[in-house]
Amino acid sequence: MSTRRPVLGTSVERLEGRDKVTGRARYAAEHTPPGTLCAQTVPAGVARGRITAVDTSDALAVPGAVAVLTHEDAPRLRPGDDPVLQVLQGPGVPHRGWPVALAVAETFEAACEAAAAVRLSYAAEEHDCVLTADHPGLYAPEQANGGNPGTRVRGDFEAAWERAPVRVDGTWTVPPLHNHPMEPHASTARWEGGRLIVHDSNQGSSAVRRTLAGLFGLDEEQVTVVTEHVGGGFGSKGTPRPQVVLAAMAARRTGRPVKLALPRRQMAAVVGHRAPTVQRVRLGAGHDGVIRALEHDAVTHTSAVKEFVEQAAVPARVMYTSPHSRTVHRVARLDVPTPSWMRAPGEAPGMYALESAMDELAGACGLDPVELRLRNDPGTEPDSGLPFSSRGLARCLREGARRFGWEGRDPRPGVRREGPLLLGTGVAASTYPVMTSPSSAEARAEDGGYRVLVNATDIGTGARTVLAQIAADALCAPLDAVRIEIGSSDLPRAPLAGGSSGTASWGWAVDKACRALRARIGEHGGTVPKAGLSARADTAGDLAGLEEFARHSFGAQFAEVQVDTRTGETRVRRLLGVFAAGRILNARTARSQLVGGMTMGLSMALLEGSTVDAAFGDFVESDLASYHVATCADVHGIEAHWVEEEDPHLNPMGSKGIGELGVVGTAAAVGNAFHHATGVRLRDLPLHPDKVL
Ligand code: MOS
Repeated sequence: MSTRRPVLGTSVERLEGRDKVTGRARYAAEHTPPGTLCAQTVPAGVARGRITAVDTSDALAVPGAVAVLTHEDAPRLRPGDDPVLQVLQGPGVPHRGWPVALAVAETFEAACEAAAAVRLSYAAEEHDCVLTADHPGLYAPEQANGGNPGTRVRGDFEAAWERAPVRVDGTWTVPPLHNHPMEPHASTARWEGGRLIVHDSNQGSSAVRRTLAGLFGLDEEQVTVVTEHVGGGFGSKGTPRPQVVLAAMAARRTGRPVKLALPRRQMAAVVGHRAPTVQRVRLGAGHDGVIRALEHDAVTHTSAVKEFVEQAAVPARVMYTSPHSRTVHRVARLDVPTPSWMRAPGEAPGMYALESAMDELAGACGLDPVELRLRNDPGTEPDSGLPFSSRGLARCLREGARRFGWEGRDPRPGVRREGPLLLGTGVAASTYPVMTSPSSAEARAEDGGYRVLVNATDIGTGARTVLAQIAADALCAPLDAVRIEIGSSDLPRAPLAGGSSGTASWGWAVDKACRALRARIGEHGGTVPKAGLSARADTAGDLAGLEEFARHSFGAQFAEVQVDTRTGETRVRRLLGVFAAGRILNARTARSQLVGGMTMGLSMALLEGSTVDAAFGDFVESDLASYHVATCADVHGIEAHWVEEEDPHLNPMGSKGIGELGVVGTAAAVGNAFHHATGVRLRDLPLHPDKVL
């Protein structure tokens, strides 16, 4: 048996690439069964209150209008574990933009017109939508997102802080951020007898099936959720969203297939967002830069609908050891849309604050910021004391410094000029936890080739391609002998594409099923009988023992910026990341993931941010004309590299996740470069020109 893995690691092109660029790949809103109706939601017009009257007569008079669903007559849902999905179940309005009615019509245009003609009266109540660091409603939650403890304390921070000879104390803010995948959330639902069949854009259709079955009182076998192609999600499709529930309700009511594609303007209020954070970081160190006191206090908001706490103080429990530390989350329940996952929840904003503070500490100690991080690189995970399965941060910092040309950098801020431009460079670290969930998969030998079945979701990452590589490797077969089938809840159950855990979780099951199949073929003397052979695998029992190690990926991000002293515009000239993420399974798609993440981090640093309107209670920037994301013209000289990392404590492929790592630390690297260029510390993202001038 060969231990070489010639298929893994190579730059295989996306299997569905041609389908995507030729338009043959179809997304959820592009499935139109005969007789399909279109639906549009009516968003709540107050920030808090109750609906007191509903008048649908004008809406139903619109030519082509078929039905209007409201809380008065919509199908009743069973209770579920996500209150965000309990739409049209009562007159209460928990935030502006909450869906309060659904218009269904023969055409998209008629649905829009009918939705606009629904007349609702409200009893509005006082609302509070504005997060402040001293908001009276702030409380310390038991848990932050991801099951992380809300508060962790070690030693005596205050005493150590008082004694520390070098101190940095700063507050960093990140505004609300929106996921805005290219493909908006969409569902096409139909009922056939007692069965519910949905084409839905999501990050994991096994979970959508389970949720729909629960809400509509069905057995899971009565529900099929197809998710063949997805145009991005960034976490906003990691859980089922109201459009899939509404489409299924409307299809049940009308007896016809119903399609609901959320307009981008409605997404901000109903698909989650990255909650704003106000983060205070205090670092106390010796003159040698070694940290003795560390505090990260992250203030954020959640909604009246449910508690979601952006776990921004969590990476401080992983990065640097301090004998005295306090990492705390505090949250206020406001009358705002419900926040949720956005690419690297916790790490993206948290590492912005922590890595900006580290840069300030380097300055205060008179140390190079790369050297400061090397001096504080711990041998075991600070919070748990567990050994790292592998920790490649130091190698990433050194390799990044070499590639970027960091050596000999003049640390003085504000001294490099090119005409009206000020130039500077900055560095920051990146980290993301390694997560793995149980998955199942099936492998079949038939018709001279192999079929591999797993309900994985390719949200644009290349998951389909990488899984085929993993299968070919485990089967010792050429890649073109493997047909991979993903994207339907009728396939073997699998976890979502989220938490950078997809490839590891699905791949483990695929690897196991394929190895089992190969063993069965061996039992048959190396030949496949006419009827074919198959093997199923489930990894639920294989994940035990992983908790003996702290498992994280790491990286180092280097940025060079120019700041225009006339316009205040900051541009990133170069962005270079070096990452340590176990074995890289497909160099092409991995590079795309990392570059994509870094681009999103650049965007977070310079462009992205929205504001909650205090009077109206929803986001002001709810389209791509007002919510700016980086375009190609904003990105110059971007490079993602990785170091070889052999880690036997991960999964059979030896891989760590890479979907989120690239977005972590980027904003801090850009901000630190901004300071190096200008000598000014800006601690509030994004670095818009109005703050610079
Ligand atoms: Mo990612 S925010 O875990 O989909």
